[in-house]
Amino acid sequence: MKINTYIYTFGCQMNVRDSEVIAGLLVNNGYQITINPDEADVILFNTCSVRQHAEDKVWSELGRFKKKDKQNRPIIGLVGCMAQNYKEKVFTRAPYVDFIVGPNDLRKIPQIIDNLINQRSPLTQLKIWQTNGTWRPEEIYHSGFYQDKEHAYVIISEGCSNYCSYCIVPYVRGPLRNRNYKDILREIEEAIDKGIRKFTLLGQNVNAYEFDGINFNKLIRLVNEIKGLEEFGFITSHPKDATEEFFKAISDCQKLKQYLHLPVQSGSDRILKLMNRGYTRGFYLSLVDRYRKIVKRGSLSTDIIVGFPSETEEDFLDTYNLVKDVQFNNAFIFKYSVRPNTEAEKLPDNVDKKEKERRHRLILELQKNISKGLNEN
Ligand code: SAH
Ligand code: SF4
Ligand code: F3S
Repeated sequence: MKINTYIYTFGCQMNVRDSEVIAGLLVNNGYQITINPDEADVILFNTCSVRQHAEDKVWSELGRFKKKDKQNRPIIGLVGCMAQNYKEKVFTRAPYVDFIVGPNDLRKIPQIIDNLINQRSPLTQLKIWQTNGTWRPEEIYHSGFYQDKEHAYVIISEGCSNYCSYCIVPYVRGPLRNRNYKDILREIEEAIDKGIRKFTLLGQNVNAYEFDGINFNKLIRLVNEIKGLEEFGFITSHPKDATEEFFKAISDCQKLKQYLHLPVQSGSDRILKLMNRGYTRGFYLSLVDRYRKIVKRGSLSTDIIVGFPSETEEDFLDTYNLVKDVQFNNAFIFKYSVRPNTEAEKLPDNVDKKEKERRHRLILELQKNISKGLNEN
């Protein structure tokens, strides 16, 4: 009888794709993926550490297994960013977790589950953890496992080397590694052979992509030429790596959605510097102007963090006014959350909770009205 596995996915699109990668690995190793957690022999939690709240959701989901006795419990694996963040400390906080696997060790999952199934006895509770990996084999992207019949996510680069001071991603995902563009194009063609027509290219900083002289502008031009591909997009772009050439490439590619997600994070130069973002408010605003001139009817969205350490009312108003001036089609607003190991962890988290909530609410309301206004036009 086949072993049934259920995967819970938390976090960003990268994790959505990683869950497919894991499912593909499992299926190729004789496992079955179920859509019903109650009939699963193995349950995986593919987790996110970007904010405290993201982790809290996982701890609370995991807590449901506390009461089940050992014999009736499925094998439980915690994988992804939280596995990397906590490593074997996970077993102290959640003793019913059987194994943990970091984002750069995904290839080991089938073998780990095999080991657990073969060696499991009620007397000895084997624990396995793998968090030292530094690479992913190219094959994992070619299992052909996609959840959606029409659309596929394609990872173009793994990890991030930007070290924005608040962000845990470089620590849990490792440094930036670009996939060979030939492999990326091959993966897209394989998916097209399966009937998929729409694609989203994924990376923490897609416009820093570069492999063998092919930068991101060239890559999107190549993707645009693929026969059978109808539409594509990409996330996420970093302002410091955005150029007019980049905007021209967006505007030239007919199959590319004329849409840009360009996180600004803050409108205050002082805070941007503390965040280590590598650009100023003025540079960001000039980018927006150039984007709108070059990409006619291109839409624009952003991410914003309120309540970064030492953010004053004046800094906050700089962000508020930037949002008002730019008129984003959409904005995702987050309250600053201290993350372990980051540079910002060393700064006092001194904007109190209520104040973070007020700033969050104010920008949220502002953006709601802007989006409403833009939709009516
Ligand atoms: N690589 C992407 C996405 C990173 S995570 C990028 O650079 O844009 C998605 C968003 O989460 C970030 O853009 C940021 O706004 C937010 N974020 C990251 N770390 C955070 C933290 N410690 N507290 C609050 N929000 C955070
Ligand atoms: Fe985090 Fe910055 Fe990298 Fe985005 S670019 S993943 S915010 S370090
Ligand atoms: Fe979260 Fe990891 Fe993505 S921390 S946002 S799942 S890269």
